[in-house]
Amino acid sequence: MISIKNVSKWYGDFQVLTDCSTEVQKGEVVVVCGPSGSGKSTLIKCVNGLESFQQGTITVDGISVGDPKTNLPKLRSRVGMVFQHFELFPHLTITENLALAQTKVLGRNKDAAIEKGLKLLDRVGLKAHAHKHPGQLSGGQQQRVAIARALAMDPIAMLFDEPTSALDPEMINEVLDVMVELAKEGMTMMCVTHEMGFARKVANRVIFMDRGQIIEDANKDEFFGSPRSERAQAFLSKILAH
Ligand SMILES: Nc1ncnc2c1ncn2[C@@H]1O[C@H](COP(=O)(O)OP(=O)(O)O)[C@@H](O)[C@H]1O
Ligand SMILES: [Mg+2]
Repeated sequence: MISIKNVSKWYGDFQVLTDCSTEVQKGEVVVVCGPSGSGKSTLIKCVNGLESFQQGTITVDGISVGDPKTNLPKLRSRVGMVFQHFELFPHLTITENLALAQTKVLGRNKDAAIEKGLKLLDRVGLKAHAHKHPGQLSGGQQQRVAIARALAMDPIAMLFDEPTSALDPEMINEVLDVMVELAKEGMTMMCVTHEMGFARKVANRVIFMDRGQIIEDANKDEFFGSPRSERAQAFLSKILAH
């Protein structure tokens, strides 16, 4: 579903990605981890064309992201993205937030968009909050709305960039629970996260990045059992120390 081949990217003189290659099969869940600044966000933003890259190729469902002829807004509408910060529109109700992109980007009629939005809101356990504004919801609830909003676009894959790292500890699990359900239902997912419990539970593979490179790309058991590189071992021992 997602193929990344020999991708390199520079910000001016600074090389942020170096020869990154990996693939995510349909229905696969791949967790991306690594130190801060290692290029994780940049890599997944390249996947849906939010960042450009100078070398290599990325295809999503056979569509080349870097090809100037590709209709990026259309591709993006099919790849759900959930960030650390929820980015809901504060002046719109939850229902309106859920319906907006469906009507504007997919051209769905308003009633159909609202119906779909409510169905997904129910799926993330928040139907009772449909009429509220984002500010009336907790961070965890807002993040679940953001996931529902992405799902309302019928994505062929979902990208997550540290979706729980801005949340208070007691809200992390409610978001991870939704992600675990998605994974179990067969959604293709690429998740930047340091929630190793989540990785252990649902990831098929774990990618470890350091200084713009993919240092490890291993199946989950291999990764947690015995990461090959010292850098991944050191990283794991730090985040699993407590
Ligand atoms: N727009 C930008 N211009 C210049 N450097 C950037 C920009 N965005 C990110 N970087 C740098 O690229 C590196 C990787 O960033 P990022 O992909 O956000 O890492 P991570 O998500 O792993 O923390 C960092 O050193 C960061 O400072
Ligand atoms: Mg990041």
